[in-house]
Amino acid sequence: MNHVIFYYPFDEKLARKVADQLKFPLGEVVFRHFPDKETYVRINTEVTNKNIILVSGLNNPDEKLIPIIFFAETAKRLGAKSVGLVAPYLGYLRQDKEFKKGEAINSKIFAPLLSKYIDWLVTIDPHLHRHHKLNEVYTVPAYALHAAHLIADWIKHNVDQPVLIGPDEESKQWVTKVAEYADAPYIVLQKLRHGDREVEISVPKVSKYKKYTPVLVDDIISTARTMIETVRHLSDAGMKPTICIGVHAIFVNHSYQDLLNEKVARVVTSNTIQHESNVIDVSGLIAEFITKL
Ligand code: R5P
Repeated sequence: MNHVIFYYPFDEKLARKVADQLKFPLGEVVFRHFPDKETYVRINTEVTNKNIILVSGLNNPDEKLIPIIFFAETAKRLGAKSVGLVAPYLGYLRQDKEFKKGEAINSKIFAPLLSKYIDWLVTIDPHLHRHHKLNEVYTVPAYALHAAHLIADWIKHNVDQPVLIGPDEESKQWVTKVAEYADAPYIVLQKLRHGDREVEISVPKVSKYKKYTPVLVDDIISTARTMIETVRHLSDAGMKPTICIGVHAIFVNHSYQDLLNEKVARVVTSNTIQHESNVIDVSGLIAEFITKL
């Protein structure tokens, strides 16, 4: 067997599913911290002449970057042929320009840095807004997979008469695809972000969809403010309780509970980031991609 799959502890569940489908062995690696919080990595599985795949999402990227770099460098020193990274969620893509003078453009710093240590990267629905392709910032082959048809399948099987709602212009790329696959109408709203936790969403014109089930679709749910503000508008407009679908369940602090406290019928996410709201399984998408690769 020429491939071995390793994982960062947070991503064990997804990595096991991918390895099972590919019939690739799972490697053993210790990631821990010394008492002074410096990172310790030890690879316990033979990697010489093997193609190594590390599954590690890049939510909480500051915590994971050093372990990923130490892992990749160690695997190569031990003779690995290649080290690829499966990062189902890819962080540091939202700060993709200098919004205020003097700000770091995170995407343009993080991506070239990570690229120095890995041979390729694959992710799911990266937040590509002002960058149109990952390779505008990544200098190694970087592939984007899409969960739109998986989301559409879930909607088809679980929602009666859906109308899809995208909360902002950036969500248009996901919402239009999901709507097409699910054969459902869609509306895209406008969002003004005033701060990390303050967003203003335009009032949706939904009078002709009163009998429909509103399905809010976005890539990332972080503070959930985008979803909460939109759900409130839909509720004020007399719509049925909203189904909220996010690809990446970041859910900082108590944001998941905050969203559940609104007029929502259900919150559904994919397992790119492990969370209790995970329903849509992306392991098949990743396994299929690795097979082709
Ligand atoms: C940004 O444009 C993204 O597509 C999401 O709408 C955003 O990241 C959601 O963030 P939050 O949950 O903090 O409102």
